[in-house]
Amino acid sequence: MLQSAYPYYLANEAVFANKDLAVTDKYTGETASYVAKADSTAIDKAIAAAVAAQPAMTALPPYERQAVLEHCVKRFRERFDEMAMALCIEAGKPIKDAEGEVTRLIDTFKIAAEEAVRIDGEVLNLEITPRAKGYQGMTKKVPIGPCSFISPFNFPLNLAAHKVAPAIAAGCTFVLKPASRTPIGALIIGEILAETQLPKGAFSILPCSRDGADLFTEDERLKLLSFTGSPDIGWALKARAGKKPVILELGGNAACIVDEDADLEDAIERIVFGAYYQSGQSCISVQRILVHQSRYDEFKQCFVDKVSALKSGDPKDRDTFIGPMIAESEAERLKQWIDAGVAAGATLLCGGQQKGAMLEATVLEGGPLNTDINTEEAFGPVTVLHAFDDFEEALAQTNNSKFGLQAGIFTRDIYKAHKAWDELDVGGVVIGDVPSWRVDNMPYGGVKDSGLGREGIRWAIEDMTETRLMVIRTPQT
Ligand code: SIN
Repeated sequence: MLQSAYPYYLANEAVFANKDLAVTDKYTGETASYVAKADSTAIDKAIAAAVAAQPAMTALPPYERQAVLEHCVKRFRERFDEMAMALCIEAGKPIKDAEGEVTRLIDTFKIAAEEAVRIDGEVLNLEITPRAKGYQGMTKKVPIGPCSFISPFNFPLNLAAHKVAPAIAAGCTFVLKPASRTPIGALIIGEILAETQLPKGAFSILPCSRDGADLFTEDERLKLLSFTGSPDIGWALKARAGKKPVILELGGNAACIVDEDADLEDAIERIVFGAYYQSGQSCISVQRILVHQSRYDEFKQCFVDKVSALKSGDPKDRDTFIGPMIAESEAERLKQWIDAGVAAGATLLCGGQQKGAMLEATVLEGGPLNTDINTEEAFGPVTVLHAFDDFEEALAQTNNSKFGLQAGIFTRDIYKAHKAWDELDVGGVVIGDVPSWRVDNMPYGGVKDSGLGREGIRWAIEDMTETRLMVIRTPQT
């Protein structure tokens, strides 16, 4: 299903420069394809091309930017199955989740196509004082300039799309470094963008090594850095990014509260999904589950039964719910955190075994709160159950984290919902569902170690544009 080799895209053109990057099938471990890897000379050329293309991109009328995005939507629909299978192979993503991601990719580009023709300014009355009599202001949004994007392995299409699509809508040229483990999704987007009338040089998509990526971070010709990935890397990049604004979409260890009035059957069904889909490899995957004491035993019994029944195996099989983690080393890392949690006093309720990149869907209960499995980002198929006595305590425990991305609350009490919205130090509170819930037109991002700024097309366009003011003086007669 994959091509035997993929090019990189430099200044809108496919370049079969080499076959230096082997992409493995994450389930079988076998090499599935080869991808051309960019060196620093190619990256430098791409940045120069993005700079040269920026005036033409700025001049591209909104309806033409919209047409580019609409072309992508059409082609994504036509290539739906191929793209889903590419994700399934390169990311080990169960095929149903992979199809879900292609559907979201289409949404993301559709939203950007709509927003491309809605980037407006304001008319300002500046007459706030006698010295400003006869002055009027107008603002418009202008593209910030060439952007640098670094996208992660867990949503190879849609998290690249959350950078690429608003950039096109806003009129910014860009260079994108997709994750080395999963570059193919972004390269298919590149192939489709290369069919459009984007100005020559408007985009480059360049898989490269981490060292090769220094230019993406440090080059002063790039006017914005938008990174999605791990907190350690993200904050380190920010420190090296110079004067450019930096958007960071980083990790979390999301909590989900199940209060005493929750519909348990519904909550359990949603939490099983929100914690274990694509093997928990989402920044907003449910990791910490806080259940009201009065419902705890009932919740635990049913939840563990459902998690134990999840089918794991080949992600190409439509019945598979749990596929491999991205790498054996990641599964080993998480297995060690599980074992350390148990050694510190947590109880293993199900799962816990690891073989290669496959880690069983695991549920732990209790134990001290200061173990990695509670405090760090698990990014895998593991949850920890805790009981609470009152809602205030559950909110405090949710906030007891260095992260703050999203939180989920199962309650039917509107006052408690508002209280959570007021008090939780996170980017988003989801009532009646899991923190893992996201639709692609909502503002998405975190506070604390979880990042800076928001994605979601409108918010990304804000970051990718500058406000430019014009003042007009009408001489007073
Ligand atoms: C993420 O893992 O950062 C994004 C999650 C999503 O888009 O659903």
